[in-house]
Amino acid sequence: MSITLGNPLFARKPIEAKGADGNHGFNRTLGPLSLVALGIGAIIGAGIFSLTGIAAADNAGPAVVLSFLLAALGCGLAGLCYSELSGMIPAAGSAYSYAYASLGELVAWVIGWALTLEYAVGASTVSVSWSGYMVGFLGKLGLQLPHALTASPFDTDASGHPAPGIVNLPAVFVVVCVSMILIRGISESAKTNAVIVAVKLAVVAAFIGFGAYYVHPANWHPFIPPNTGEFGHFGVSGIFRGAATVFFAYIGFDAVSTAAQEAKNPERDMPIGILGSLAICTVLYVLVCLVLTGLISYTRLNVSAPVSVAIGVTPLTFLKVAVDVGAIAGLTSVILVMLLGQSRVFYSMASDGLLPQVFSTMHPRFRTPYFSNLLFMLFACVAGGFTPISVLGHLTSFGTLLAFNIVCVGVLVLRRTDPDRPRAFRTPYSPYIPVAGIIVCSALMLSLEPQVWALAVGWLVIGLGVFFGYSRFHSRLRGHA
Ligand code: ALA
Repeated sequence: MSITLGNPLFARKPIEAKGADGNHGFNRTLGPLSLVALGIGAIIGAGIFSLTGIAAADNAGPAVVLSFLLAALGCGLAGLCYSELSGMIPAAGSAYSYAYASLGELVAWVIGWALTLEYAVGASTVSVSWSGYMVGFLGKLGLQLPHALTASPFDTDASGHPAPGIVNLPAVFVVVCVSMILIRGISESAKTNAVIVAVKLAVVAAFIGFGAYYVHPANWHPFIPPNTGEFGHFGVSGIFRGAATVFFAYIGFDAVSTAAQEAKNPERDMPIGILGSLAICTVLYVLVCLVLTGLISYTRLNVSAPVSVAIGVTPLTFLKVAVDVGAIAGLTSVILVMLLGQSRVFYSMASDGLLPQVFSTMHPRFRTPYFSNLLFMLFACVAGGFTPISVLGHLTSFGTLLAFNIVCVGVLVLRRTDPDRPRAFRTPYSPYIPVAGIIVCSALMLSLEPQVWALAVGWLVIGLGVFFGYSRFHSRLRGHA
């Protein structure tokens, strides 16, 4: 049963409604291992391969380890809430669909708009990281690309001094290639995913295992560098801001929730998939951070390929190439998943009438939402080509944290408004877990810099303009064609 409040802005989409993209009839083929692999495939990427260095150099020092644990806590709490909603709302899984069913149209719109920050800006962030590793890799093969064509106009060097380029061309290149693949249509096979996950895990494990021999414990002192007098620059506030930055490294576990309809036994396997992939990644991330900040002083890690730079101080030549290859393969798959997620969200919003129909128009031959793909290709090319990675990463974290907050609120609301609907999985200790999720995710959002808030709020204001200027006059739920 759906309850529609008097004000149409808060109209809820009935839960019985068929998924916006008609995605019923999935085969239930995924067991717990495949779900964990799916999660790891979407999680390990630019966060650990790039942003760790920035968070250590700018915010937390070696205590970036604590930032990772804090971010994992927020994700774990939100992950439990995702598990509940993904098991009860049979729509193309995303926070947008969950919000539409629980909190109504306006909130769903805000969240769909904010998810652009998670997916499209996230893909741009990863493309900049990809560029960092690709440029390093080509350099080792003797092919030096000019700095002007591999950096944005706002880039800084490792010491924080301005080092502007013209455009980050490799970032643009990977976004265009991945978008073309998406337009042609790909079926993310479990096999391909398993191979990429194996490569990523092998590289990360090799970095930890071999790197540990070359750690200088002196680099861990001071473990929590003293605060510089500015919020977020080391000390305890630095750990929080670092957590808001490295939170990016966990994004992707929500991809597991979108596979609820394909899980063999969702009640048992969704929490295993979500929390299992989170737990494995947390352990790996903590170990990588310890090795990274033990190999090289955190002050030298403000670069887009810090793992590569850290290995550079060891004699492990073979590992330098392996890390580059593993990172490039892993980052490519994350960009693909994110751009796919973005077109799926806009597709759902257009199917609901909240965006022009062109976003849900399928390519006549490839049967893919090619217009969305092309639009976000351009968007991600501009963002990745002309913006430094730290700004992009923070914006992505903002959008995702907002979505996580709403998912936690959604669980609380549906427990009240629709208590009897069967739930494949129930978040334990409700309302405490959802409320704790809201508190931790909000604290992380508040730790982000004022400039990030200004950009994100600006983006949301544009979104509200579109909603009140277009969407409310075209919404299917309000009876518009
Ligand atoms: N968690 C993904 C990454 O770090 C988005 O690239």
